[in-house]
Amino acid sequence: MKEKKIRHVAIIMDGNGRWAERHGLPKTEGHRRGANQVSVILEAAQEAGIEFLTLYAFSTENWKRSAQEVSALMRLMEKFLDEKIPELMEKNVRLRAIGRLDDLPVNVRSKLFRAIEATRENSAGTLIFALSYGGRAEIVDGVNRYLEEAWKSGRKPAKLTEESFRNCLYAPDVPDPELMIRTSGELRISNFLLWQLSYSEFYVTDTLWPDFGREEFFAALESFEKRERRFGGRLK
Ligand code: FPP
Repeated sequence: MKEKKIRHVAIIMDGNGRWAERHGLPKTEGHRRGANQVSVILEAAQEAGIEFLTLYAFSTENWKRSAQEVSALMRLMEKFLDEKIPELMEKNVRLRAIGRLDDLPVNVRSKLFRAIEATRENSAGTLIFALSYGGRAEIVDGVNRYLEEAWKSGRKPAKLTEESFRNCLYAPDVPDPELMIRTSGELRISNFLLWQLSYSEFYVTDTLWPDFGREEFFAALESFEKRERRFGGRLK
């Protein structure tokens, strides 16, 4: 069976550092340009009728970067949250976040929750930031939450199935991405949405994230539409 409709696109926004290096600019300038691209791609996704756009904005591993780079990324996130709520409201887009949000600096966390709250009723699309996110952390956190709930209620935890495990994810109601885009050429999954990407198609481009524009986003969607998805079965 061919399934062509795309509801959910997930993106690993890589290459900000290389972009800055190639332009003889500081790394933080690459991140700033990268943050600007978020609005461009959000708009293109909405135009294409994509319901969910998940962006890998900060991984659990990114905490290992220099304190200066981490704080520059946190400041950019804060700036985005300060400035973009009106844009999200105007576009009727809901903001959500997945990851170990408790690890974020308190000012980022409070602005994030405020934006999530302000956009909660918006219904023309959902932008999901993966923040302090790791796929393994998500699985471990989910199982621990499940065990803790069982323990608190005094019952023996029921055996998990693939279906019931979905409730352990950070956003169980969000459908798995049909398409995962990775910029800047690396052929790795980098701990992104490990459970959810099981059957996703991948589009990897050498374009660096600050240069990844709407034309290439549409090209990625078109390349997806040309593929045959078999989900492990056979096409007759
Ligand atoms: C990879 O570039 C990108 C990140 C570390 C995360 C993505 C962050 C942004 C796009 C900017 C902030 C986003 C928002 C929404 C405010 P890299 O530094 O790993 O690139 P490199 O591999 O070329 O060094």
